[in-house]
Amino acid sequence: MRARPTARSGASWVRAEVAAGRTLGEALDAGTAGALGSGTLLRLEHDLRAELLGAGTLLAPLLAAPDVTDVLVNGPTGVWADRGDGLVRVPDPRRVLGDEGAVRGLATRLAAACGRRLDDAAPVVDGTLPDGTRLHAVIPPLAADGTTISLRTFRDTTLSLADLVALRAVPAHAAPVLRALVTARANVVLSGATGTGKTTTLAALLGLADPGERIVCLEDSVELRPAHPHVVHLQVRRPNVQMAGEITLADLVRAAMRMRPDRIVLGECRGAEIRDVLGALNTGHEGGWATVHANTAQDVPSRLVALAALAGMSESTLAAQAASGIDAVVHLRRTDGRRHLAQVGVLHRIGDRLECVEALTVAADGRVSAGPGVDRLASRVGDAAVAAALGAGARVAVA
Ligand SMILES: Nc1ncnc2c1ncn2[C@@H]1O[C@H](COP(=O)(O)OP(=O)(O)OP(=O)(O)O)[C@@H](O)[C@H]1O
Ligand SMILES: [Mg+2]
Repeated sequence: MRARPTARSGASWVRAEVAAGRTLGEALDAGTAGALGSGTLLRLEHDLRAELLGAGTLLAPLLAAPDVTDVLVNGPTGVWADRGDGLVRVPDPRRVLGDEGAVRGLATRLAAACGRRLDDAAPVVDGTLPDGTRLHAVIPPLAADGTTISLRTFRDTTLSLADLVALRAVPAHAAPVLRALVTARANVVLSGATGTGKTTTLAALLGLADPGERIVCLEDSVELRPAHPHVVHLQVRRPNVQMAGEITLADLVRAAMRMRPDRIVLGECRGAEIRDVLGALNTGHEGGWATVHANTAQDVPSRLVALAALAGMSESTLAAQAASGIDAVVHLRRTDGRRHLAQVGVLHRIGDRLECVEALTVAADGRVSAGPGVDRLASRVGDAAVAAALGAGARVAVA
């Protein structure tokens, strides 16, 4: 005879009963008929809800923990969570997670909750769960060691620039530069390696835009939630099984230009849509923001060149359009677990090449120093903001 369900084993006990041939109702009746306390029954219901509707009894509490930013599942044996200090392995996940079949079932269910499918015909999925958590999942044989699930938690409290200052992500004296980039309606590329806080910082900065402005955000799946009264979200659509009906970011950029936007915001620029974005930024659309993945601000030009190549643009065309259309590059970095502003640069065209020239460098201790691009930055955002960042006299010393 199988053991009775306990508070800890509720959902897996019911799963075992169902696997042994009972209907779900019979399994629940069997549990209820046993001498179970009301606490155990409540816990059983909670576990079942998590198993059947949510992220499961292992992942749901991890995702709910306020300090967890990422939860990564590499098949049934490797589960990792980032609580702000890097990835830490979750001990003994198989006990709760089950076998590969259960992990795959979980991934399929999460994908369905995002309105997406995950199966042999569509083995990679990217989506947003109803609570805002971002999901990415890959099933075998693409994921060679078992179903891989990557979850990025969503905090329904959008951080403000003041919050980022309080978290030491932006030094207080550098905040006026970021604020001025927004209010001066500069076109800005926000760069950083993966998970450095690009989306969070962008949402915070968009919250500083004039409430009278209409912001159109274009994303793979909606992540940006700026504290602003007039935001329109457009998200891409994947092709269906016949590979028809795809709506790309490039399509959305073209659509956005007809929506009377005051700002066009590209959640992440990662492909040929760069041609349409640069087209928009060079035809009078101001106040645009886009994030790109890059390890340093100096790497942004080569990243843009690579994306432009996908759109069939030559380096010289890209250089000409980016240098005239993009006013600044704001770069974020993660140092010892802390996400922070690291550089502000400006883009220059040198012959056919595009270069990012450093205007401000933020040291890990928050001190800001000027680089050769500082005058160009000051001419766009104003001397006062740059002087505030550098502290009295520092600008003179550099110039
Ligand atoms: N300054 C910060 N302090 C603490 N946590 C932060 C900070 N900025 C972002 N986070 C958290 O870090 C995680 C990653 O942030 P975010 O999604 O903004 O990064 P990203 O650079 O856009 O990532 P990706 O490269 O995957 O798009 C999120 O869970 C977010 O809540
Ligand atoms: Mg992001």
